Amino acid sequence: MVKICCIGAGYVGGPTMAVIALKCPSIEVAVVDISVARITAWNSDELPIYEPGLDDVVKQCRGKNLFFSTEVEKHVSEADIIFVSVNTPTKTRGLGAGKAADLTYWESAARMIADVSKSDKIVVEKSTVPVKTAEAIEKILTHNSKGINYQILSNPEFLAEGTAIQDLFHPDRVLIGGRDTPEGQKAIQTLKKVYAHWVPEDRIICTNLWSAELSKLAANAFLAQRISSVNAMSALCEATGADVTQVSNAVGKDSRIGPKFLNASVGFGGSCFQKDILNLVYICECNGLPEVASYWKQVIKVNDYQKSRFVNRMVSSMFNTVSGKKIAVLGFAFKKDTGDTRETPAIDVCKGLLGDSAHLSIYDPQVTQEQIQRDLSMEKFDWDHPTHLQPMSPYGVKQVSVVSDAHEATKDAHGLCILTEWDEFKTLDFKRIYDNMQKPAFVFDGRNVVDASKLREIGFIVYSIGKPLDAWLKDMPAVA
Ligand code: UDX
Ligand code: UDX
Ligand code: ADP
Repeated sequence: MVKICCIGAGYVGGPTMAVIALKCPSIEVAVVDISVARITAWNSDELPIYEPGLDDVVKQCRGKNLFFSTEVEKHVSEADIIFVSVNTPTKTRGLGAGKAADLTYWESAARMIADVSKSDKIVVEKSTVPVKTAEAIEKILTHNSKGINYQILSNPEFLAEGTAIQDLFHPDRVLIGGRDTPEGQKAIQTLKKVYAHWVPEDRIICTNLWSAELSKLAANAFLAQRISSVNAMSALCEATGADVTQVSNAVGKDSRIGPKFLNASVGFGGSCFQKDILNLVYICECNGLPEVASYWKQVIKVNDYQKSRFVNRMVSSMFNTVSGKKIAVLGFAFKKDTGDTRETPAIDVCKGLLGDSAHLSIYDPQVTQEQIQRDLSMEKFDWDHPTHLQPMSPYGVKQVSVVSDAHEATKDAHGLCILTEWDEFKTLDFKRIYDNMQKPAFVFDGRNVVDASKLREIGFIVYSIGKPLDAWLKDMPAVA
């Protein structure tokens, strides 16, 4: 029986291994993590991450061929294939701060593998890492090898949160990169056989190590670039009277462009896009390609611009001040169907409003009060000027309350903003909400989920990203 061990039981490792276990009953899969709390949660009825369909998959395999454990060394030493899926955040200090990936967790995992292994191993990079990480990992492993043969593969994950299980069941492609040696090719085939249990062969792409590593960064950069492109257009639409939804639809009909990932928004978030682009920027700079670096940097700059443009629009519409006003924030997660808040645009928007002394009442169906408070009290890391951390926003506890439904959040509010496209926000009783708000009552739709004309009939002043502006908003001073 092939044994797989995955180091890191997070958003990537957990769901990926659960699906491998489900699809490959003949393989034993152990997911290990240094966090006791995380592993305890994986072994309970309350999984540590919210992901539609995940509970079901875990329930079917856990205790049969899927195990969650803190016995990291035991499972690593027994495994034939080791996936490494630890976190690789952006470095916040030292060389490359603000851009380079922090490989501390990866390095410590590699050293541990070298320490405890007694048999040959295939080590698979699952977390997104800078190009040439495999080479560094190989050095750590082979310098401590005690005669053991290690084959390093890069097998980047393309799942998106909120649709992880479906993405894993029906991937557009599985990418496996390895060395161009007979041993490297054999390792590729071994991993390919695992995926071939459920993925059609023509969707399993085999490349060299560096192509696989770079493809992951490139794919995320291209996706993020589409969002920044459509968001940049949204600003122009507002200025000219065009409607970004109509423009996206028309542009997306070109089969060379395609219709997906063209929704204008308050900005992209999530643990990958910004981190991977910064990583790409750093790699370009290190390779003497400043023009390429600045091209990609602009994708993040436009994203930051979109978030601050949204805040400015809110403040300027509401008579140039939100000081002391109650603002309802609907949605805090970086997208719907996840409780994840990493790099969510809601953090920057909320901080912007707090900076203008607003009182926020926040509701998200999946994010806990503790998480929101933690996110808002953390110092903002300034990727563009990493040596100066921006000071913590000096808001008091009183300025933020986290509530358990949209009606409570909006009661007596001057304005509401929608920052995550949760389905339940589309069907809210907006008449009731309007009746309970201060007048004039404002809606700022950062995800274009509400029917603006219906809301206007009720009496709201509505701002939708990239749509022709209300007469009210047009008369307000121009936004910076
Ligand atoms: C992304 C990639 O899609 C995935 O392939 C990779 O493995 C990890 O990074 P994820 O960050 O989980 O996945 O979610 P994604 O659906 O890509 O959304 C990222 C952000 O972009 C979200 O904040 C989302 O709201 C935003 N977005 C997405 C838009 O603003 N407009 C769009 O049209 C699409
Ligand atoms: C373009 C648009 O495609 C068309 O829809 C519009 O009406 C007019 O402008 P055209 O300039 O005639 O058409 O040709 P196109 O096939 O788009 O190529 C433009 C340039 O891009 C060419 O120099 C082509 O060689 C180059 N190109 C195209 C690339 O370098 N790489 C590609 O992948 C595609
Ligand atoms: P991702 O979104 O990439 O899956 P997460 O932060 O959700 O990232 O998960 C990474 C996991 O890796 C965390 O649960 C963390 O505790 C775990 N981890 C980090 N370093 C190690 C290590 N050396 N050994 C085992 N687990 C680790």
